[in-house]
Amino acid sequence: MAPETDIATSTVITGQLEATGPLPLLIEPAADRNWRNCFDEIKAVIDARLEQVGGVLLRGFEVGGEQDFQAFAKAFGHDLLSYDYASTPRSQVEGKVYTSTEYPAHQVIPLHNEQAYTLAWPMKIWFCSITAAEEGGETPIADSRKVYQQIDPAIRDKFAQRKLMYVRNYGNGLDLPWQKAFSTEDKATVEQFCRDNQIEFEWKGDGELRTRQVCQAMAIHPRTGEPVWFNQAHLFHVSNLQPHVRETLISIVGEDNLPRNVYYGDGSPIEEADLAHVRQVLDACQVQFRWQPGDIMMLDNMLAAHGRSTFKGERKVVVAMAEPHR
Ligand SMILES: [Fe+2]
Repeated sequence: MAPETDIATSTVITGQLEATGPLPLLIEPAADRNWRNCFDEIKAVIDARLEQVGGVLLRGFEVGGEQDFQAFAKAFGHDLLSYDYASTPRSQVEGKVYTSTEYPAHQVIPLHNEQAYTLAWPMKIWFCSITAAEEGGETPIADSRKVYQQIDPAIRDKFAQRKLMYVRNYGNGLDLPWQKAFSTEDKATVEQFCRDNQIEFEWKGDGELRTRQVCQAMAIHPRTGEPVWFNQAHLFHVSNLQPHVRETLISIVGEDNLPRNVYYGDGSPIEEADLAHVRQVLDACQVQFRWQPGDIMMLDNMLAAHGRSTFKGERKVVVAMAEPHR
């Protein structure tokens, strides 16, 4: 605990987890575990502190499943967002509540800010632990301001100036089909979405879709004015694949048809050593804690990145997002 930063109101107590330090700020009930009875004070603490710490963890409140979680997220007063232009498989579990990315349990999901591979993203993201894994399954987080500050300024400036071009090839059994990524069966709807979002698109000979989009590598938080590392180059780049998978994929489909890849904004290749440095900094900034059932984590999606650790046993973490920013 760090008493100088704690807030005690009549209904909630703040503190910090030993394992993580100041991020996330821990919010617990003083006595009454019904979040609805404490919501005004929960919100007051979050309004006062979220932009300073980047994320909060609510622990010890009664959360009665996905529907109750959705009600909690909605109580902040914004419409929840649907997962358009998704990059990974998810399922809708309740209204605008989704499963977290359904990648196999043995796979790590590297730290990232949600939808940083595009030009519009949610400012807020909530996670709720419905079933905590037997082992692992954490949602590691990192302060994106700290990540920005720790990246070698030469690399940082190069990325910021040159920007990034994300290339995606949908379907073909290798990645999400376009119908799933764009939540539609209609090609014209996809095309309109792409035009509206400055995404270049191309229907290939086999009827599959390729998109290209030039996006930011860093961003300035609209309210705090702070620079944050804000991209998914380390996830989209082909170097994120195991070497043997990378080799096999390229030999079968060719570099142009890789399910996803990223270049500098002008289409020139990104140096792999630079991405290795970015991954190192992300690792160094990462903190994590064990999920407990009923935990809710709320992040400012620009100030904090999140990922997923490998796990054993059943795990269910659901997600909601709000406040689109462009
Ligand atoms: Fe994510």
